[in-house]
Amino acid sequence: MTPPMTSPPSARNYPVRPWRVSLTILMVVFLAELVLMLMLPVVLGEDQPVWLDAIVDATILMLILLPVLWYTAIRPLQQLASMRADLLETFVSLQEDERRRIAFDLHDEIGQSLTSVMMGLRALSEQTEGSDDKQRIADLRTIVNHAVGEVRRIANGLRPAALDHLGLEGALQRLAEDIRQIHDLEVELDLGEEDLTGLSVPVQTAVYRIIQEATTNVVRHAQASQVRIGLGHRNSGLLLEVEDNGRGLATVDLATRTGGMGLTGITQRASLLGGELSILAPSGGGTLLRVQLPVRQ
Ligand SMILES: Nc1ncnc2c1ncn2[C@@H]1O[C@H](COP(=O)(O)OP(=O)(O)OP(=O)(O)O)[C@@H](O)[C@H]1O
Ligand SMILES: [Mg+2]
Repeated sequence: MTPPMTSPPSARNYPVRPWRVSLTILMVVFLAELVLMLMLPVVLGEDQPVWLDAIVDATILMLILLPVLWYTAIRPLQQLASMRADLLETFVSLQEDERRRIAFDLHDEIGQSLTSVMMGLRALSEQTEGSDDKQRIADLRTIVNHAVGEVRRIANGLRPAALDHLGLEGALQRLAEDIRQIHDLEVELDLGEEDLTGLSVPVQTAVYRIIQEATTNVVRHAQASQVRIGLGHRNSGLLLEVEDNGRGLATVDLATRTGGMGLTGITQRASLLGGELSILAPSGGGTLLRVQLPVRQ
């Protein structure tokens, strides 16, 4: 189940226009100060001390400016923050929808076709007499078999059916097992005694996706031999950690990195749920990616 869709707001409708806000505030200050300077000597009298003039002037100016600031700056900025949250939600939800669609297409179209080819080759093998031809067909069946496995693996990565069928814990165990087998990495999955079944679907999906991206990064970039995946409840939220013993991320200037979407995606997923990402460099080397999500069971 994906979160409800919201239509992205148009960039033209963005409520904050810095020049208009600045000019409005300057105009209000100018006019208010002009009127005050002309009116105060009349209202308070000429012989009042300067400090009293100054206090009355500043107080009235502040009272005039407060609603102007609220209307021109504070309220639009609040609208902008809520638009940003909507956009993030739309982005993540569209990404999940697209991945799910491609996964189903892969499974239903290519997967079914390959299965038909497999069955055809099997039937052909039974009808064939010559051992050379039989061997050739057996080789083709091996290749098709491998392709079926690859399609299943890619489709599963796009839309982890394991998440629907096995729940978060089972899906993470399968992910860990895949990394062990395919990439020859030592994987420690540390879920403690946690009961993860009560987590909402968006939280489970986010946690799975974050761990999937973080471990993919370890495989692709870290040159590590070990990775630890930790997930558990801490205080009022969830603490998720992926730690490797590789070359470390501190040497990479994160601020100037180009191209990669993975860490940005993790940040967005975490921030959508009100959480945050920190990337730490453990004293023993490697990288520790930590995500804190303020969710209750
Ligand atoms: N565990 C890690 N160890 C070392 N370097 C890392 C690690 N994780 C990420 N990096 C570095 O941070 C960069 C940014 O990672 P990010 O996931 O955002 O992009 P990417 O993996 O290069 O591309 P994408 O995720 O879009 O396929 C990587 O290119 C890599 O140099
Ligand atoms: Mg990446």
